[in-house]
Amino acid sequence: MKKIGIMTTGGDCSGLNTIIQRLILGATVRGWQVIGVKDGTDGLNKKDPGIITFDLNTMPIETARLSGSWLGNGHPGAENFETAARENRIEQFNKQINLSLLKLGLDALILIGGNGSLSLAHNNREIYYGLSLVCIPKTIDMDIPMTDRTIGFETAVQQIVNFCDQLILTARSHHRWFVVQTMGRDTGNLALNAGIAFGADAILIPEIKFDTDNLIQHIKKSYRDYGIILVSEGISLRGHSGRPADIISRILTKAGITNRADFPEHTQRAGDTTANDRILATSMADCALNAIDNNETYVMTAKIGNEIKTVSLEDFFHSGNIVFDPNIPELKVSNAYVSPNNPLLEIANNMGIYIGETK
Ligand code: F6P
Repeated sequence: MKKIGIMTTGGDCSGLNTIIQRLILGATVRGWQVIGVKDGTDGLNKKDPGIITFDLNTMPIETARLSGSWLGNGHPGAENFETAARENRIEQFNKQINLSLLKLGLDALILIGGNGSLSLAHNNREIYYGLSLVCIPKTIDMDIPMTDRTIGFETAVQQIVNFCDQLILTARSHHRWFVVQTMGRDTGNLALNAGIAFGADAILIPEIKFDTDNLIQHIKKSYRDYGIILVSEGISLRGHSGRPADIISRILTKAGITNRADFPEHTQRAGDTTANDRILATSMADCALNAIDNNETYVMTAKIGNEIKTVSLEDFFHSGNIVFDPNIPELKVSNAYVSPNNPLLEIANNMGIYIGETK
């Protein structure tokens, strides 16, 4: 009988509980023992890591739709890779994680994480030596290379669309524009997809230069006197500081355009998991368990076209843009940005949405 561990790391998103619940189902069919590590690597960085021993009754089916993580994603104040790096304690930190894993006696660990956690796992792979390490990509930012989709992205897009659907009525009543800021770190997939789905009048993302004069002209020429401009949190404007939506809002006000800035914030990571995210979570859970069956290690589950399969962490890391994490200078992360060939960019242009200076 195999003993497998599950942990969720980094920011939460919707779909984590679906993955956990489906992993328990699939592992139980195989006759394996399943434990969950509480609070990700923060939990492992303890002499006695917090553990949940799962059986089919631990996580009822109704929890599978909920956002957040049944296992937790980290603990405020706990030492993590970032603080350990700052205090020159990485070696001890890695050693403790390795000791905890040895103590747990796992045959395999399923790490459900974003590009930071997966990059860390790749760059510190010796920690996981001796067990099968299988990663599952989750993030609302959809910035993980080698996979067409990440778990939680679609629900986040839906949450932003719901937010805009509510706002547009008050926008119409007051003949005013709303500048809505999405998350996404330094990438624009979230804003781009939500903007297309909702029908935003303009979408500003970090990957495409924009001109505020052209944006103003675009809004002034609109057939309406209200609408929504989606702004990704990663955009910046030389000479301006503050939150991007506030910056754009101030510029529009100065140009005589009545508007307000608005922020869905962490509701983007919440919400009932969409059916597609649950299908993706189930398929990736199945793929991860098959990978353990096949004794694979240092792999990530990926959606490539219609296929769900494993790719090596090595390929994941080297196929993206390798950049330094803004918070952790020691950490190189592999990032996927909106490609200039993304068909949604041309579609936006064809629909008369201002997407920046693409031409
Ligand atoms: O990476 C996920 C994400 O939600 C980003 O889109 C956002 O910039 C960040 O995490 C927010 O992190 P926190 O929860 O620490 O505010």
